[in-house]
Amino acid sequence: MTEARDHVLDFYTRHPISRDHILAKLEAERGSLDGLKPEEMWPHDQDHYGGLAVNDALAARAQLAAGKQVVDFCAGLGGPARYFAHRYGVTVTGIELNPTRAAGANDLTRHVGLASRVKVLEGDVTKVPLDAGVADAVVSQEALLHVPDKRAALREAHRLLKTGGRLAFTDWITHRPLNADEAETMWRGIAAQTLMSVDDYRTALTEIGFTLEPMDDLTGEWGDVLAQRLAMYRRLREETRRAGPPTGDDAFYSAYEKLVALVQGRVLGGGRFVAVK
Ligand SMILES: C[S@@+](CC[C@H](N)C(=O)[O-])C[C@H]1O[C@@H](n2cnc3c(N)ncnc32)[C@H](O)[C@@H]1O
Repeated sequence: MTEARDHVLDFYTRHPISRDHILAKLEAERGSLDGLKPEEMWPHDQDHYGGLAVNDALAARAQLAAGKQVVDFCAGLGGPARYFAHRYGVTVTGIELNPTRAAGANDLTRHVGLASRVKVLEGDVTKVPLDAGVADAVVSQEALLHVPDKRAALREAHRLLKTGGRLAFTDWITHRPLNADEAETMWRGIAAQTLMSVDDYRTALTEIGFTLEPMDDLTGEWGDVLAQRLAMYRRLREETRRAGPPTGDDAFYSAYEKLVALVQGRVLGGGRFVAVK
């Protein structure tokens, strides 16, 4: 296993959104975990910017509809997969690299009674353990930044899709090449292995055999969300300082400040890409 892969695994093993954290919050809120409904978990289990609204935007672009088979690349704790299954009536197979998150996703899914239609497999999106032509749609949210060989992941999406099937995903994009310091900030801050520009993605998708639909530039939206999160971290840090000796993680905080500046300066941003096989 490479050092880079270990860093990505470790980043998500220590991530603040975890199975235990979600269940503890729900138990505190409602006194027990009995009879949990899928929608009760939604405020806690989405690991991307923009919450449920961006799930709906992705579902619209992927044309999700009852009975369709969906593969979710980098499914995390399965939040979007459960949402798509419950709201749109699809069946979802998630692919998730981190074994703790894959197991956590399946446990959360059992808690809300969706196990017959949502399953997360431990695996790598560059080598998916599924047969060709099984999917009506492949979706992914804010995750391909962690995958060093994105072309391999896009080729796998193409292999899995039926003819006419749709790939819809969001990812970080570069608006200009990053310098070494900026790339290091992204690597240390959010475990970004490699990042592509809009043109890089367009070229890769076309060469693989997809037909492109217009992409959505999400840079402005992400800049707003990041600014709100930075303000929250700043408040929490001030509270911690006032309460006693500083315990905050200064390295994380300064990396986060730099990251927000990169998005607000339109060096980095987000994009929603849609491609048809
Ligand atoms: C930002 S989270 C997004 C989770 C989910 N898409 C969501 O929106 O809630 C990114 C996820 O990608 C997973 N991941 C990273 N590299 C991967 C790979 N090569 N194959 C599969 N999953 C991967 C991480 O372990 C992490 O759970």
